[in-house]
Amino acid sequence: MTDIPSAERVAQLRAALSEHGQEHVLRFADELSPDALDALLSELEALDLPRLDLRLKSVLGESHEDTSGELEPPRVVELDNSEAGRARDTAAREAGEELLRTGKVAAFLVAGGQGTRLGYAGPKGRFPVGPLTNRSLFAYHAQRVLAASRRYGNALPYYVMTSRANHADTVAAFEEASYWGLDREQVFFLTQGMLPAVDDQGRMLLAEKGALALSPDGHGGCFEALQRSGALHDMARRGVEQIFYFQVDNPLAPVFDPVFIGHHAQAGAEMSTKVVEKLDPDEKVGVLGRRGGVDCLLEYSDLDPAIASARDDNGKLRYRAGNIAIHMLQRAFAERLVNGELELPVHRANKKVPHVDSAGARVEPSEPNAIKLEMFVFDALGFAATTLVQEVRREDEFAPVKNAEGNDSPATSRAALSAQAKRWMTQAGLHVRDGDVEVGPLFALDVEAFCATLTGADFGPVFDRS
Ligand code: UD1
Repeated sequence: MTDIPSAERVAQLRAALSEHGQEHVLRFADELSPDALDALLSELEALDLPRLDLRLKSVLGESHEDTSGELEPPRVVELDNSEAGRARDTAAREAGEELLRTGKVAAFLVAGGQGTRLGYAGPKGRFPVGPLTNRSLFAYHAQRVLAASRRYGNALPYYVMTSRANHADTVAAFEEASYWGLDREQVFFLTQGMLPAVDDQGRMLLAEKGALALSPDGHGGCFEALQRSGALHDMARRGVEQIFYFQVDNPLAPVFDPVFIGHHAQAGAEMSTKVVEKLDPDEKVGVLGRRGGVDCLLEYSDLDPAIASARDDNGKLRYRAGNIAIHMLQRAFAERLVNGELELPVHRANKKVPHVDSAGARVEPSEPNAIKLEMFVFDALGFAATTLVQEVRREDEFAPVKNAEGNDSPATSRAALSAQAKRWMTQAGLHVRDGDVEVGPLFALDVEAFCATLTGADFGPVFDRS
C-alpha cells in the first residue's frame, strides 16, 4: 500500500485515464473494499497509458505490417553433407564450443504460454513426454542444461520465463525435482508482462469490478521481462554475450547446440533462427521470408494460401524455411530492444474474454468479444542488422507437443524421441529392439556422445543416468 490516500490516487488516476478515454475502469471504485481498491489502483498505476494508446492505435487502425518491398525466400545455411559442408559445420562447432567453455552463452526458455490447445492444466513443462520414463518437458530441458554444463566445464546459466498464471507452479516443479541436479544459482526465473484486453473500441475490459482483464503479452514480451527482472543485468554480470532461446513445447530442442551458436557468432548475427523444411503447405509453422533484403517471419495463421503453396523449379515449397522457434540473440541486441531505441509491434487476437459490463453484470461471451494484445519474438528479426537462418533436420530437433491428438501431439512427440534413440542405437551398432526406446540427456547429449558412452553392453530400452 502506498501512503497516498486512496481518494487522491483515484483522482489522479481518473484524470490520467480520462485523457486516454479509459476512465470507465474506475466506475465501481466506490463499491470496493479498501484492499480491493488498493489492488485495482496499483494495477492501473503500473500501466503505461501513452504507450498503450500507441499500441491500441496500431492494432485498431490499418495493418501496421510493412509489406512494401518484394517478398522472396530467405538465404539459408542449408544442410550440406559434402566434405565442404561438414568442414563448415565443424568450424562452427569449434567456435560455439569455445563460447560455451568460456561461459559466454545462456539458455533462455519461454514457458509462459497457457497450453490451451493441449488441454493440460498446469505449466506445459510438467507434461510427461519421455516414451518410457515419462520424463517431463522441463526435465528434458534442465538435464540438457546440466549435461552441457558438465561437458563444457561451466555452470551455464538458465533463464526461465513464466507467466503470472503458471509462475508458482513452475518454480514448484523445479523444487520438487531438486532442479534436476542444476545448481540453484544457475537458474533465474522471470515472469512475462501482462497487457489489458480491450473491446473493439479499444476500451479496457474489467474482469471483475476491481480488476482489469489482463493476459500475457506474448513471447515477444520476453525482452521487457528480461529487462524488468534484472536478467539482462545478471547476464552482463556473468559475462554472457549470447542467448540461446527456445520454447517449452519441444523436447528435442538441442539446448546449447554448439553448431548453431557457432554459425550465429561467426556471421556476427544479432539474431539467428533455426528452420526445418516445411513439406505440407498446411503445416502450422511460420516460414521465413525476406522483404527488402530483411528477414521476416510469415506466421502460418496470416499466410496467403498462394504463398504457402507456391513451389520452386524443383517442386519444393518456395517458402519452406519452417520456424522451429529456436533462436540465438546477442545480449546487446536484446538490450537495444528495451532501451527505447526499438519497439516490437503488437498483434491483435480476437478472443472470448469474460468481463463485467457497465451495469456490473457478468458477461460470459460465446463469440469473440475482445482484443488481446501480443508481441512475437520473431518480429525482432526485422530490427537485427545481421541475421542468420540455419536449416536443421526435423527428426533431430523438432517434435513439439501442442495438440492433444493428431499432429504435434504427445503421441507424435514420443514417437520422434523414440525414433531418435533408435537411430543412435543403430549408429552405435547396437541391436535395435521393438517397442519404444529412450535416451536421457545425461546419458548422451548427441549421437557422438551416445556412441562414445557405450561399452558395447546392452543397456535395455532406457539409456539414463541421473
Ligand atoms: C509458434 C510460432 C510459429 C512456429 C511454431 C513452432 C508463434 C506466434 N508462432 O506457433 O511460427 O512455427 O511455434 O513450434 O509463436 N509463450 C509464452 N508466452 C506467451 C505466449 C507463448 O511464453 O504469452 C510460449 C509458449 O509457452 C510456447 C511458445 O511460446 O512455448 C509458442 O507459443 P504458441 O502460441 O504455442 O505458438 P504456436 O502457434 O505453436
